[in-house]
Amino acid sequence: MVAGLTKNERQLAIVLSLLMALFGLAMAVAGRDDPIGGQGFIVIAYALVVMCAVITGYYLPEPGEDRLSEYYDDPTRVGIILAMVWGVIAMFVGDWVSWLLAFPDMTFDAAWASFGRLRPVHTSGVIFAFGGNALIATSFHVVQRTSRARLPDQLTPWFVLVGYNLFCLLAVTGYLAGITQSKEYAEPEWYADIWLVVVWVTYFVLYIRTLARRKEPHIYVANWYYMAFILVVALLHIVNNLAVPVSFGHAKSYSLFAGVQDAMTEWWYGHNAVAFFLTAGFLGMMYYYLPKRANRPIYSYRMSIIGFWGITFFYMWAGSHHLHYTALPLWVQNLGMTFSLMLLIPSWIAAANALLTLNGAWEKVRDDATLRFMMVAAVFYGLSTFEGSFMAIRPVNALSHYTDWTVGHVHAGTLGWVSMIVFGSFYSLVPWMWKRERMYSGRLVEVHFWLAMAGTLVYVFSMWNSGIIQGLMWRSYNDSGTLAYSFVDSLVAMHPYYIARAVGGALFLAGAVICLYNILMTIREAPEQRSPATDAPLALRGAAE
Ligand code: HEM
Ligand code: HEM
Repeated sequence: MVAGLTKNERQLAIVLSLLMALFGLAMAVAGRDDPIGGQGFIVIAYALVVMCAVITGYYLPEPGEDRLSEYYDDPTRVGIILAMVWGVIAMFVGDWVSWLLAFPDMTFDAAWASFGRLRPVHTSGVIFAFGGNALIATSFHVVQRTSRARLPDQLTPWFVLVGYNLFCLLAVTGYLAGITQSKEYAEPEWYADIWLVVVWVTYFVLYIRTLARRKEPHIYVANWYYMAFILVVALLHIVNNLAVPVSFGHAKSYSLFAGVQDAMTEWWYGHNAVAFFLTAGFLGMMYYYLPKRANRPIYSYRMSIIGFWGITFFYMWAGSHHLHYTALPLWVQNLGMTFSLMLLIPSWIAAANALLTLNGAWEKVRDDATLRFMMVAAVFYGLSTFEGSFMAIRPVNALSHYTDWTVGHVHAGTLGWVSMIVFGSFYSLVPWMWKRERMYSGRLVEVHFWLAMAGTLVYVFSMWNSGIIQGLMWRSYNDSGTLAYSFVDSLVAMHPYYIARAVGGALFLAGAVICLYNILMTIREAPEQRSPATDAPLALRGAAE
């Protein structure tokens, strides 16, 4: 990795990690009586590890000018591995939390092992660390191929990847230490939030700089989705995290918003995190890797563009469906409901476009588990968006809200759509990145597919059952007009479903472990000598010929 950097880039990397260590030191000193002090030590340790890695490779020979005739893929390779390692850890915590809900005494009397601390480790771990690394890694790959341009320099992509993983590390270790600003999906405190702004703006500028160097006149639709993901996440993150810290030496901060305005800002953020983190970026992935793997052009380019504008415009207004029957004005709730219903159209356009692309290639779907992952992802995308639009209808939400139905919907989207599209894309990408013909074991890809399918179905069906039973029990009255069931009655009724969910989660986790193993074995078996690049940037390739 360091071997690919020029001397100047190596020096700059050392200076940046030194600066990072100094920031960590300042946090550790100023926050010696506060949990932020511990976070400072994590920053120092992280910066030192990065610095040592660069210093160790400092005297390696510099790469020659011929590097510019190939795409720059080292950050993509590392990003894939980071995504899978984080994925396995975060899904393990998800399964742990599932067992904890079935057997609540499993906390060993330790604060860090309580549900309230482990749950955000799971949610941030899967969404940001697993999903985010997968998005960063694939976006670097896709933007270069579709623009026929190499990334503009070699240090910035590392800054984005390494910096982003520091954010993820601060987030999850902070939760375990009890640091949280209690906003769902935006739990990290102000210091981690500010760091993420720096990283994210750099990411956006890097993406635009690469596009500006493109040799291809057209900007392929996958790039539109990736750009929407990067740009809108920056906007959401900055607005939702506007807060005033108690002091530089304290982790705690106070939000600029209060009451119902705070709730609305949070769910404007929360729903658009679903839209632009869990949807737009992964649609970018789908629009590149699915047609590539099927070896067919996408069914309709026009549909992909119409879908893009529909999704980007409609999602922005839908967040208030999370706040039905609250103090939020009724018209705002109705606005959210209406836009959620309209969202079904662009969502299904995207799902249909993916499935129609496979028309004529169904025999490949039958034989190739990698393509099947992507096909199933498109089906689950269609299913979960239909379910979401349905749940946004106020009277339906009256039943589903606060119940496990929401958790079932979430995991139909995240296991069935997000994770499956990542697995399918990685199984396509890994052999390309390490110059292999195929994955180490095709049979293990097949086993993974069936574990992931079984795990998703068991998880989602158990949560649908449990959620609808919960909702119905909570609204059952007896003849005298009082509630027919106590809350504890409903908990007892949930118990078998919670065990079923934990078993489904274990199957899904086992599949992810197999995927990581298969990737690592593919890398291990990769030939020492990489074959000359067959997909070099167009202009340079022409010059070389
Ligand atoms: C047309 C598209 C969609 C619509 C209209 C929609 C609508 C909804 C609704 C109405 C809720 C329940 C809100 C509540 O009662 O509090 C919800 C929750 C949620 N949805 Fe969706 N959904 C859509 C697609 C998706 C997809 C594709 C994913 C994941 C990849 C997803 C992830 C989530 C998450 C994470 C929550 C839970 C939020 C919480 O923590 O309460 N949604 N969605
Ligand atoms: C091994 C697989 C997984 C298991 C066992 C699992 C388990 C869980 C559990 C037990 C919860 C807490 C539910 C509650 O509070 O009642 C949860 C929440 C959540 N998980 Fe997972 N999960 C898994 C994979 C994933 C993945 C891959 C993603 C995203 C890419 C994800 C995203 C979420 C989200 C967004 C929530 C919050 C839901 C809400 O507030 O409604 N999970 N998960």
